[in-house]
Amino acid sequence: MEKNIAVIWGDCSSKEIVRESIRVLDKIAAKYGHTFNYTDVAMGGEALDKYGDPLPQHELDKCLASDSVLLGAVGDPKWEGVKGEMRPEKGLLRLRAGMGLYSNNRPAKIWPQLADASPLKPSIVEQGIDFIIVRELIGGCYFGEHKTDVLENGEKQAVDTMPYSEHEIERIGRIGFETAMKRNKKLTCVDKANVLDTSRLWREVMHKLQAEYPEVEYSEMFVDNAAMQICKNPSQFDVIVTENMFGDILSDEASQITGSIGMIPSSSLGDGTRGLYEPIHGSAPDIAGQDKVNPIACILSAAMMLRYSFDMAAEADDIEAAVNKVLDKGLRTADMMSEGCTLVGCSAMGDAILAEI
Ligand code: IPM
Ligand code: MG
Repeated sequence: MEKNIAVIWGDCSSKEIVRESIRVLDKIAAKYGHTFNYTDVAMGGEALDKYGDPLPQHELDKCLASDSVLLGAVGDPKWEGVKGEMRPEKGLLRLRAGMGLYSNNRPAKIWPQLADASPLKPSIVEQGIDFIIVRELIGGCYFGEHKTDVLENGEKQAVDTMPYSEHEIERIGRIGFETAMKRNKKLTCVDKANVLDTSRLWREVMHKLQAEYPEVEYSEMFVDNAAMQICKNPSQFDVIVTENMFGDILSDEASQITGSIGMIPSSSLGDGTRGLYEPIHGSAPDIAGQDKVNPIACILSAAMMLRYSFDMAAEADDIEAAVNKVLDKGLRTADMMSEGCTLVGCSAMGDAILAEI
C-alpha cells in the first residue's frame, strides 16, 4: 500500500522522537512492501519562526491532503508569555479543529516491565491498569470565548467560556459506547454535573445513547472523584468518556500511574479515517538536543496510525511487540529508569526497537 503521511517535526525534543518514529515506519514499509511518502509540515514554534503564525493555512492544507498526520510535540519556552494566537499550542488546537478531530483516544495501560516505575503501590498495580480515556477534543473551554477586560475599578477580569452543544456531546458519547463495546463493555462518563450546566447536558445526551447500548455497563462520576479513583483503584475503569479539559488533566494523571508519560501514544479521529497521531507528552525543552528523550510514545503513535487509519494491524502488532521485547531486555530511557535496568538514550532506544522488527 502507498500512504502519504504529513509529518510535524515539532519543537524542542520532538524532532528526536519523530526521527526514530520515521526510521521505524521505514523499516515496516520495507518489511511489508508498503510505500510511505512523507510531507513535512511546520506547526507550533517552528511555524511561528518561519511564517509568524503557528499554523498557516498552507500547512493545514498539507495535513488535509494527507492520509494521516504524525506529530511529535509542540511548545517552546521561547514563546512563553506570548498570548493567544501567537502561542505554539494554538497551532495544535487549530490543527485539531481544522481536521475535525473530535475524538481523542488515550490508552492508559501498564507495561508489566514498568510496574516498578509506577508511583502506585504494587498491591494496586497488581490489580491491573488498562483503560482508555476518550477525550472530546474540539469543544469546551479550549474553543469557547476567551477574553480579558478591564473593569470599571481598573481591575482586570478574565473569562473563559465552556460551550457544548448536543451534537458535540452525542458524537463523542457514541465513540465512548462503541469503544466500550469493543473492550470490556464498561463506560464511565466523567463530569462535574454537581456544578456545571454543560455536564448536566452531557448526562442528558448520554442517557439517550445508553438506551442504544444496553450491553454496556454505564456509570457517571464527578471529575474530582475520578482523579482520586484513578490513583486509588484504577482497575475499575475500562473506558472513560469526558470533555476536553477534564480529559487533558486526567490523561496526564493516568499516564503517570502506568510508569511514564513517555510511553503513552494517542490517536485523534473525526468522521473519516484520516487521523492525527501524537504522544500525549510535551516537547520536553529541558532535555532537548541531549538524546535523552523517550521515543516510545511517538513510535507507538505511529503504530496506532497503521492500525486505525491504514488498517495495517499486523504491522502495528509488529511495532508493539518490538517495544515489548526491548523493555523485556531491560532497556530504559531516563524517564522510566529503575534499578537493574540499562539506561539508553533516544537513538539507542530507536536502534533497539528497529533491531526487533
Ligand atoms: C495535550 C496537551 C495540549 C492540550 C496542549 C499542548 C495545548 O496538553 O495534548 O494534552 O491541552 O490539549
Ligand atoms: Mg495535556
